[in-house]
Amino acid sequence: MNILGIESSCDETASAVYTDKGLQSNVIASQTVHEQYGGVVPELASRAHHKTIWSTVQQSLEEAGTSLDKIDAVAVTQGPGLMGSLLVGLCFAKGLCLSRDIPIIGVNHMDAHIYANFIEGQPEYPFVSLTVSGGHTQLVYVESPFEHTLLGQTRDDAAGEAFDKIGKILGLPYPAGPEIDERSKKGDPQFHDFPQAMLDNDFEFSFSGLKTSVMYYLEDKEDPEAFLAEHLNDICASVARAITEVLIKKLRNAVVHTGVQTITLAGGVSANSMLRQKAKALARQKDLQLFIPHIAYCTDNAAMIAITGHMMARRGLFSDMNLKPFASLKQ
Ligand code: KG4
Ligand code: ZN
Repeated sequence: MNILGIESSCDETASAVYTDKGLQSNVIASQTVHEQYGGVVPELASRAHHKTIWSTVQQSLEEAGTSLDKIDAVAVTQGPGLMGSLLVGLCFAKGLCLSRDIPIIGVNHMDAHIYANFIEGQPEYPFVSLTVSGGHTQLVYVESPFEHTLLGQTRDDAAGEAFDKIGKILGLPYPAGPEIDERSKKGDPQFHDFPQAMLDNDFEFSFSGLKTSVMYYLEDKEDPEAFLAEHLNDICASVARAITEVLIKKLRNAVVHTGVQTITLAGGVSANSMLRQKAKALARQKDLQLFIPHIAYCTDNAAMIAITGHMMARRGLFSDMNLKPFASLKQ
């Protein structure tokens, strides 16, 4: 079965081909238009998707050495995401399916982040996924393919959102997660103890207070600008420690609660080097199998949509041609 995957939920226009032999291509056109605004501007995102979607799909077919007439189904991100951005991908996918008379598969973006772990690995069920992205932070118990139980999630900001918003306070460009990661490698994680919220709750998270505490911490300094210039890497490392320690503590709780022997990381924040290290340490301590996607499959991509579509197609999970996008997980 040859599946074309399309992802357009936020600011990456992406397309990939996944067949019975595995991943054949993975193309991403990242939008740079948002940098000057310090965040994704929804209207500009959908226009940029519109401009690049056809060339991105064509490139993914070319790189896979195939063509549209050999595609058996199109898997497309149905949600969650920005409504205008989702609509571009969904309408485009419907057009392709109608013109070729092939089925469409609506893919949940958060599920796809989890199944990105199967592109290069074979996690055994049941497992617990720590799914951490710019919009979501969740602990998910995955009993078998597409049988998920949400153990807990963030009550406010997502972990990636915390990295990005704190980065803005520190004067770093959007999205700040990768730069905070790079800087924290050169800083001291013990430099300051930023607060870790909701430690008395097993599986839920809260990151909005951390952002405020970074702001007050800097404001309290006699010369905040000079202090920041001198200690930026240390602050980045301390922030990364505060975020990743909470994530790992709750992941450990989920392991104890469910008794799983396998854990996975998923989503853009799983590219974070401190989180990856701490997850490896947890796996060693508790004798767990750990799977973390290759960095290219952590942040938004279409390879994860294509592989999830392939898994769904094998189970006959095709969608209706009238499927609609959904912006949020709570419908
Ligand atoms: O999964 P993703 O690409 O998009 C969403 O579905 O939201 O995640 C993007 C998020 C951004 O908040 C970005 O700052 C964060 O992932 N991120 C990182 C790293 N790479 C990306 N956060 C921390 N360390 C990184 N290395
Ligand atoms: Zn994502």
